[in-house]
Parts: sequence; C-alpha cells; structure tokens
Amino acid sequence: MLNFILERQSVPLLTEPAPSQAILHTIFCAADRAPDHGLLKPWHFLVIEGSAREKLGRIFLSAAQSLTSIPLTPEQQAKWLAMPLRAPMVIVVSARLIPNHKIPEVEQLLAVGASVQNLLLATHVCGYAAMWRTGEMAYNEKVKVELNIAPQDAIAGFIYIGSPVKSGSHKKILERSMSEFVKEWK
Ligand SMILES: Cc1cc2nc3c(=O)[nH]c(=O)nc-3n(C[C@H](O)[C@H](O)[C@H](O)COP(=O)(O)O)c2cc1C
Repeated sequence: MLNFILERQSVPLLTEPAPSQAILHTIFCAADRAPDHGLLKPWHFLVIEGSAREKLGRIFLSAAQSLTSIPLTPEQQAKWLAMPLRAPMVIVVSARLIPNHKIPEVEQLLAVGASVQNLLLATHVCGYAAMWRTGEMAYNEKVKVELNIAPQDAIAGFIYIGSPVKSGSHKKILERSMSEFVKEWK
C-alpha cells in the first residue's frame, strides 16, 4: 500500500480509458475523506468528459481572447481549444472558502489540497494516472462564471485523468536526502 504513495507521479500525456463511473465513485469517496478542520467539506468537483471538454476549450478560448484587444492567432486559438483534450476526463476542483470563519481560510484551502491528494492517490491505486494543473484559466473570473462556480469560490485545479499514453514510461523520481527537509528540534 505504501508503495502506491511512494511511486505516485504526475502523467502529462493521458488517453482513454478514463475511470468508469463505479471507479470514479470510489475515487471521490477517497477525496471526501480528507482531513477537514470544522468538517466544512470545502471541496467541490465538476466532472468534464467527452464533448463537454470541447465546450471547456471554447470557454478557455473566449476567456483568453477577452484578456486582450489583439485577436489571438490561429495557433493561440488552437492551443486554448485543445487544452482540455489532453486527457479523456478533466475534474475541476473548486474550494468553497468561508471568510471570517473560526476556521481560517488557509486551513480550509489546505483541506481542499488534502482532498485533491487523496483523489490523485486513489486514481493511481485504481490503475489510472492524473496530473494536477492550474494555469491562468484557474484564476479567470469568466471561466468561473461559465462553470457556475461562485465568485467567492476558488478554482484549486484542473485534474487531468486517464491512462498513460506510453505505458511504463515513468519519469525517474528524484530521491533527496531527508536532511534537506527534516530536522530534529530539541
Ligand atoms: C496547485 C498545483 C497546481 C499545479 N499546476 C500545474 C500546472 O499548471 N502545470 C504543470 O505543469 N504542473 C502543475 N503542477 C505540478 C504538477 O501537478 C506536478 O505535481 C509536478 O509536475 C511534479 O510532478 P510529480 O507530481 O510527478 O512529482 C501543479 C501542482 C499543484 C500542487
């Protein structure tokens, strides 16, 4: 079991198949088991598959175009349209943060991060691969509006999920000395 945690890695090139509905259910159960001060459950997920990814690409393009008065080149347009097609499934994670709550907002956001990590690990355990991405579209208000995400909520990431394009093509995991990040305090 520990090996699943030690060997998990992000896979940028993903293809079919994506997890089935039954497996996705298990993955979301894992995500929902994240540590959560105050039991606020601040994590929310949108599953985007199939042609809905093309719609997301059009939202990205429109959002990117509205950031500049200069028309985007055909290459730039193609880049935005193709972005959500990098995997068969994209999960949009949003964080519903409650301001001025006794649980500080940073702790609410940390809980969302823990939930995403549970989701990534469960995806890996179930035999699929994933990559957590943000980029400027995660911080674009127009994108939030189109996805029905409330203005006060934050997009914590776009999780690309599927199967590795090249099976067995794992990158080398850099091992570092524990003394770089662990110290004993006496
Ligand atoms: C909040 C968050 C946002 C990220 N956004 C991006 C991104 O937009 N593009 C990217 O290449 N990597 C992004 N990453 C990093 C990758 O998901 C990944 O963790 C990193 O490439 C290291 O690979 P590993 O997970 O295999 O160690 C993000 C990570 C986090 C935690």
